[in-house]
Amino acid sequence: MMRELLLFTSALLASAPGCAERFDEPQLLGGVVVQPEILNRGMQLFRRDCTGCHGDDGKGQAAKNPAERGPRDLTLGFYKFTSVPDNRLPTDDDLMRTIREGLDGTQMVARPELNSADLHALVQYVKTLSTRWSNESTGIPIVPDPDPWGVGRRQEAIARGFAVYHGLAQCWTCHPSYVPLDRLQEFASATLPAGADSIDKAIQFRGDITRSRVVETAYGDVLPPDFLDGRVRAAKGPEGLYRAIAVGLGGTPMPTWKDRLSSEDLWATVYYVRELTRLRGSPSARAKAASPVMTSGDNATHSAGAQPANETVNPALVPKIAKVDDPAAESRPTPKTSGAGLPDPRPIPGVTGVRKDAAQPRESEGL
Ligand code: HEC
Ligand code: HEC
Repeated sequence: MMRELLLFTSALLASAPGCAERFDEPQLLGGVVVQPEILNRGMQLFRRDCTGCHGDDGKGQAAKNPAERGPRDLTLGFYKFTSVPDNRLPTDDDLMRTIREGLDGTQMVARPELNSADLHALVQYVKTLSTRWSNESTGIPIVPDPDPWGVGRRQEAIARGFAVYHGLAQCWTCHPSYVPLDRLQEFASATLPAGADSIDKAIQFRGDITRSRVVETAYGDVLPPDFLDGRVRAAKGPEGLYRAIAVGLGGTPMPTWKDRLSSEDLWATVYYVRELTRLRGSPSARAKAASPVMTSGDNATHSAGAQPANETVNPALVPKIAKVDDPAAESRPTPKTSGAGLPDPRPIPGVTGVRKDAAQPRESEGL
């Protein structure tokens, strides 16, 4: 009895300081002054709807399995699903969209019933959880280019995206390759500038190319999705996929592609990845994904874009493959530097990008 009582009082005490807090003064958050009434409303809503997962202090708990995503530690002030590159602070629209639409395949469900005033208040309160918002201002969003392909050239776009994914952009350095090794070599060597080292080594140290590989992020170790059997969290539909690929994902080594790929190629990867996510659950998904012509729809025989994507390559844009000069690394299946070797414009303290051990858990179904 005594023990229960003690536990009960300590639980009360643990939550007490949070309950007492109130905002009396306006706050400067991301360079914008926010009134205390809005913050108090946001705090009230956060306690009602969010602390169950994110905790009173917003610290959440990271998932232990890299294939899963635990409630975010909101005190970090890093956000994955935004429209602003380089780990800059996101816009209100970005945070409101995440809360409204939820994150697919995680416990964070969509909240379509929240009105925009409440969403706005929640977002302002979320900002008070991280000191980044007192010191920095919001980044500049990437404005999407219009889709240059259109419905009539859908197959061509998919085929081109297939080539860019496996060749020019080398998305397979973190996500799976959907083509076998020899084909991948063909695509990848076509993208390397003349005189560059062979990519054989990189492929060798990539480990099992048909699976994603665990990467280090600001949130802990993360297994990037296999688009055939994993879920994407926020990148729903062409617009969402474009945003994720163009902007990259804050706090992770997934880079910004907007300035590294032409608008055509960026949109082409959107078409290809969208097609992959549509194949999810289909028994012949892997076989279909390995071909540039993934469906039997109109223009199914059009494969002009399936040639190795070398004709537009600017060597400066080609992700460099990690050079392996440590002989001990021969036994490790992953390269030593972050994914495609692209410099992170805003390094994240303590995060190098890639885990050095070999554990590569599969993303479990139904996350
Ligand atoms: C049932 C658990 C759960 C609840 C309730 C929940 N979240 Fe989350 N939230 C998550 C998980 C899990 C993630 C992390 C996903 C990831 O890392 O990919 C997340 C991530 C986030 C992010 C980061 C988004 C980004 O771009 O990186 C924000 C912001 C957020 N939640 C805010 C909220 C707010 C505000 C509420 C209340 C309206 C809320 N969450 C309620 C589980 C929850
Ligand atoms: C350096 C590693 C790396 C490279 C290279 C990379 N990605 Fe990613 N990508 C990730 C990580 C890590 C995640 C998962 C982030 C998370 O959920 O925590 C991810 C997630 C994604 C998502 C899902 C976003 C969501 O809403 O869940 C898409 C789509 C995606 N990547 C597309 C691509 C494409 C297309 C390319 C090539 C143009 C690419 N990625 C290259 C690391 C990478």
